[in-house]
Amino acid sequence: MTNPLPIKFLETDLEALAGISGRIALLVAPDDNAARSPAARRLNRLTKGALNRFLGSDAWGKVKPGEATDLAWPAGLQAEALQIVKAGPRADVATARKAGAAIGKAVGKAGVLVLAGSMLRAADVSFGLALRAYDFEPHKTAEPTARGPVQMMVKDPEAVALAANPMAAVAEGVFFTRDLVNEPANVLTTDDFAARLAAMQELGLEVEILEEEALEALGMGALLGVGQGSDSPSKVVVMQWNGGGEGAPFALVGKGVVFDTGGISIKPAAGMEEMTMDMGGAGVVAGVMRTLALRRAKANVVGLVGLVENMPDGRAQRPGDVVKSMKGDTIEVINTDAEGRLVLADVLWYAQERFKPVGMINLATLTGAIIIALGHENTGVFSNDDGLCDAFLTACKSEGEGAWRMPMGDAYDAKLKSRIADMMNVGGRDGGAITAAQFLKRFVKEGMPWCHLDIAGTALVKTDTTLAPKGATGWGVMALDRLIRDRFEG
Ligand code: BES
Ligand code: MN
Ligand code: ZN
Repeated sequence: MTNPLPIKFLETDLEALAGISGRIALLVAPDDNAARSPAARRLNRLTKGALNRFLGSDAWGKVKPGEATDLAWPAGLQAEALQIVKAGPRADVATARKAGAAIGKAVGKAGVLVLAGSMLRAADVSFGLALRAYDFEPHKTAEPTARGPVQMMVKDPEAVALAANPMAAVAEGVFFTRDLVNEPANVLTTDDFAARLAAMQELGLEVEILEEEALEALGMGALLGVGQGSDSPSKVVVMQWNGGGEGAPFALVGKGVVFDTGGISIKPAAGMEEMTMDMGGAGVVAGVMRTLALRRAKANVVGLVGLVENMPDGRAQRPGDVVKSMKGDTIEVINTDAEGRLVLADVLWYAQERFKPVGMINLATLTGAIIIALGHENTGVFSNDDGLCDAFLTACKSEGEGAWRMPMGDAYDAKLKSRIADMMNVGGRDGGAITAAQFLKRFVKEGMPWCHLDIAGTALVKTDTTLAPKGATGWGVMALDRLIRDRFEG
């Protein structure tokens, strides 16, 4: 997998600055229009006043908080660039991460020395730096991009390293998710996906793989129907992290459609290649579980993913087929492209029957309709429980991950009525993200606090974001880790 850059924290050593040969990144408070910190004054002296000329200029005034400007090949230094980053000692979390991202985006093979001084959120700078320095390169035949050593000089290196440790675990979880989502479907088959999850046993996670026979015995007709047209076997993978002693776990459930052609209700050719990301929900669940294990979280969490491939074939399910879910309810499959909800129906039910969780969140790249509603900025959040939902939205806010609550209601649910079965798998075009959520809700038990996160718009984006290059974002790993930390680790 792609590994985050290791980052070393050291005490500030002003004597070393003149001889540093990679990049130097200097954090400067927004209202400083001259060198003030000891490191800044030293760099100003070494550059014969160039730093102060820049900080006194209009150009510096126009730099936004968290953004940066390069002074390239500065006279008086060995460094290839002096990057001036706008973030003061009291910068908030978002600004600190953004500042780190500006540094991480620019880091090259000679590495970077970051001068963070007495900044309170220096650990968040390192986190943003690591997240933004991601690149997905396993399928490029050219040498991988070299990124040199990253060192941060700070006032209290031990304290910063302590704060940065759990963040490094989150960064690794995010990278795991991004790799899974970026991987093409001829590589990330259901078998390959399951093997990558099984490998996490090394980290202390308990991982079980339920194969088709077991799923049949459990009665998962809805999930199995989706995968029956594919040569790749359908699977459910269960990952348990029991760091919280006795007590029922919290459950995370993910849609893992490794490729979604639409099945017999086949999708148009244009853009179909994007459906390699249709396992994004499962990817986020996997990334969170990895993070929990890496940071030895004091919580009980179970992650369940349904891994299938939706293909058209002589054995594929047809529009009009009726399947029976593990719950026992029958479903008329009007459109084989509304497959994610069929997979989740059975995995949600299984999660509740087996684990009796204290609450449950599922993630899925479920509908194009949520992209029409919210674009790529916010995940659609649907819930039957204000307490859990508000806690999750708060977690999203503190981690800077966009999320917006959507409505639910009986009138939407009524659209799923079928003439010949207990329900249809689609409810028409109008409010398509909401009727999909209503379908899932039918597989959530009375009184079970639950959220459904439709990440179709946020799992993968075509432009760079603050903390990620274009492609897979890893949206949700940070917020879910935060939720678990705040709600279950006291
Ligand atoms: N995987 C798609 C949803 C999707 C669309 C994800 C675009 C990411 C980007 C899902 O399985 C799907 O095909 N949904 C259909 C549902 C419809 C047939 C009711 C859709 O949104 O068109
Ligand atoms: Mn589909
Ligand atoms: Zn899909």
